[in-house]
Amino acid sequence: MSKAVAADRLPPGSLASSESSRTQKVLIIDDEAGIRDSLETLLTLEGFAVEMAGDGSAGLDLLASNTYDLVLLDLALPGESGIDLLPRIKALVPEMPVIMITAYGTVGNVVDAIHAGAANFVQKPWDNEKLLADIRAAIGRTQAEQEVVQLKRTLKQRYSFQNLVGKSDPMLRLFELVAQVAPSRSTVLIQGESGTGKELVAKAIHANSPRRDRPFIPVNTGSVPSDLLESTLFGHERGAFTSAVAAKKGLFEVADGGTLFLDEIGTMSMDMQAKLLRVLQDRRFMHLGGTQELQVDVRIVAATNVNLQIAVKEGRFREDLFYRLNVICLELPPLRSRKEDIPLLAAHFLKFYSEENGLENRALSTEALRVMMDYEWPGNVRELENAMERGVVLSNAPEIHADLLPGQLRGNSYSTALLEQKPDASLFDVMEDIEKRIIADRLERCNWNQTEAAEYFRIPLSTLNQKIKRLAVEVRKRSRE
Ligand SMILES: Nc1ncnc2c1ncn2[C@@H]1O[C@H](COP(=O)(O)OP(=O)(O)OP(=O)(O)O)[C@@H](O)[C@H]1O
Ligand SMILES: [Mg+2]
Repeated sequence: MSKAVAADRLPPGSLASSESSRTQKVLIIDDEAGIRDSLETLLTLEGFAVEMAGDGSAGLDLLASNTYDLVLLDLALPGESGIDLLPRIKALVPEMPVIMITAYGTVGNVVDAIHAGAANFVQKPWDNEKLLADIRAAIGRTQAEQEVVQLKRTLKQRYSFQNLVGKSDPMLRLFELVAQVAPSRSTVLIQGESGTGKELVAKAIHANSPRRDRPFIPVNTGSVPSDLLESTLFGHERGAFTSAVAAKKGLFEVADGGTLFLDEIGTMSMDMQAKLLRVLQDRRFMHLGGTQELQVDVRIVAATNVNLQIAVKEGRFREDLFYRLNVICLELPPLRSRKEDIPLLAAHFLKFYSEENGLENRALSTEALRVMMDYEWPGNVRELENAMERGVVLSNAPEIHADLLPGQLRGNSYSTALLEQKPDASLFDVMEDIEKRIIADRLERCNWNQTEAAEYFRIPLSTLNQKIKRLAVEVRKRSRE
């Protein structure tokens, strides 16, 4: 089914400088041989290397064992359709640009495909020049994005333990624990809601261990189909399955001497859980289709945002695997339970994103910080980081006001904040509280110029004065402009 055309290969994940000089490789997934052949001829003549698959599962197998620059995917595949396949491709190789091939008149599906992350689509019969231009544009865009991502990563990659910011008691205790467990080889399980910093903690453990100069390999075990995960983790021999044209090392081998970070372990399939347990028990495994036992020295750090004890009780997670992983358990508290970390984290991210954008260091206004303290942060530190990045990018003055914070933060602060502090507050109290906040915010933004604030509210200055006194709004002296 698949046909390999010579292409010099870079190891997965390697990037950038040599990209432009290397042959670009396209995977065509289409069930019609005629379409595949004409695309292959077109692309090969243009200097692309081409491989082909006639259905989704052959396509996924190829993707799991090879590196491609782009996928051309037929929307109307028999069995699993292109639309269903797209998220699986994205789960396997998130940055992979995918161009959908569609028949005329399937606009609805095209919209779904674009929402699901397709880079573009081409309608049959296609225009060769346009198709080539779209392919080159999609590959170019992905390379540029990857370079930015890589740059951001290098900027962020000070995975020293100190990169974890926090001063609340649970975070200080966590820092101590991380420092304590890092040097050992013990398996660590990190539990916490999404965005609480599980991956950052895993990296801190690795960076503070004697393995720091060896690889840290993250693998998302929750989103990869279990047959692919198996070959990704354990590797395979040539011919182990249809598309295994060459033997491939698994991530257990790649991580030899280092740390393997098994992310989202809580949603791993039962089948895969059994296989993983076996490897954790005797630290030996075999390639798929292999006969030789391999042994590696890998430290396992696993993370989950589902509570594994509950998953065990409900029969969704193997108890024996849970105990294997749960040798040392680190709990990452949600941000709403350690609000004293908010100002510190905000300052940390403001500094980072100000520097990254070449701006003078941004700071939050008093009101903006108060809004942040009132908010519950369901997306935890990641949500806070995104809010700070947004604030920096949108600000055109050193001070970031509440109106530059995402809407969901402000909505919450004006409506329910008082009720949370004083459950017996009346509607009248809540309205007064809101009025007080709005006035305080405006005054701060007018640099405490009450005349300007009164004009903004379209009320007489004397009325504003009365309100300020009645509501006990804090008033400061005007700073020099
Ligand atoms: N204590 C912290 N100090 C500084 N940055 C943090 C902290 N916690 C989290 N972050 C940052 O917040 C973002 C989310 O963290 P991370 O990816 O580690 O979370 P996660 O728990 O793995 O989330 P998910 O479950 O969604 O994968 C990252 O950019 C990380 O650098
Ligand atoms: Mg994570």
